[in-house]
Amino acid sequence: MPDAVSPDHDFASRYANFLCAAHRSFPAARTRLPRPWELTEHRSSRKPWRPVLDAALRQSPRPDGVILEFGVFKGDSIRRLARRKPHSVIHGFDSFRGFPDDARKDWSQDFSLPSLPVVPANVTLHAGFFEDTVPPFIAQWDEAPPPIALVHIDCDIFSSTHTVLSALGPHLRTDDIIVFDELMNYTEFATNEFLALYLMLDRLGLDFEWAVAWGKAYPLVESEGRMLDVAFDGYRAAGYFQNQAIRLCKRRSGGHFDASLAPQPLIDRLSRDLASPVLLSALGMAPAAALKSRGREGGERRFRPAARR
Ligand SMILES: C[S@@+](CC[C@H](N)C(=O)[O-])C[C@H]1O[C@@H](n2cnc3c(N)ncnc32)[C@H](O)[C@@H]1O
Repeated sequence: MPDAVSPDHDFASRYANFLCAAHRSFPAARTRLPRPWELTEHRSSRKPWRPVLDAALRQSPRPDGVILEFGVFKGDSIRRLARRKPHSVIHGFDSFRGFPDDARKDWSQDFSLPSLPVVPANVTLHAGFFEDTVPPFIAQWDEAPPPIALVHIDCDIFSSTHTVLSALGPHLRTDDIIVFDELMNYTEFATNEFLALYLMLDRLGLDFEWAVAWGKAYPLVESEGRMLDVAFDGYRAAGYFQNQAIRLCKRRSGGHFDASLAPQPLIDRLSRDLASPVLLSALGMAPAAALKSRGREGGERRFRPAARR
């Protein structure tokens, strides 16, 4: 039974230490967004991704490179990127049918659309699940990967983020910037995009620096990982934002992979939280058969998506 498999406690410990180090390095990188009125406006749940995307674009070391967005839905963020970069090549990936069924029980939201969104001419949309669209798209690059200006990850769930970063990661270079729509500062962040980022960095032997560190980082060490039991807007009202951007960098001593800060209760909690079929499979610890079921399972919704944007 996959649910009975325990994740490697050593993995949970290494990951917990990485998370604590990442939260500790956040305040020093804190980003002063250039339009303070925007920060005030976005302290509520309204459109918090806008200033982060804009700030990340300004930071890009390869501003004329390709822009990749994973999670397009009705096209709000990709149209903004296209307005900001009208001469750039922009690719948007989405099933336009919602999430794949990855047996995750705590998140379900209908993102299916009757037709593709209308986007500017410099945007190409790739309709289909990432596992079908991203590898063939990237296979075209094997000869010469293009410079990448920005990667925007807004696909909400671990498995989708992991699929994208597994395929894309080997083609990224140091200094590339990835914007995450739901990286941190919510109850279940540690088993979502942050985990996919950690797995990619671990595989590639890289680390990251904060490119856009907006607001505050929820104090993981002090709280021993006990997050607030509130929805996104509760975190945002307290100055904790989910949208952040990172810059890939070489691993060096004193980096996020070197820390030993994690309190035992956080390690124990992560060890338990990582014991789901999808996560265990990503960690190479569950039989693939555990993931074969394609019918979406119901279950308690703890992620509270209603107030997410
Ligand atoms: C929050 S929405 C994206 C919002 C969008 N960036 C905007 O500006 O409104 C998340 C999207 O990710 C897509 N998605 C999630 N996982 C996917 C996968 N594995 N393959 C394809 N699309 C996926 C969903 O279909 C959904 O449209």
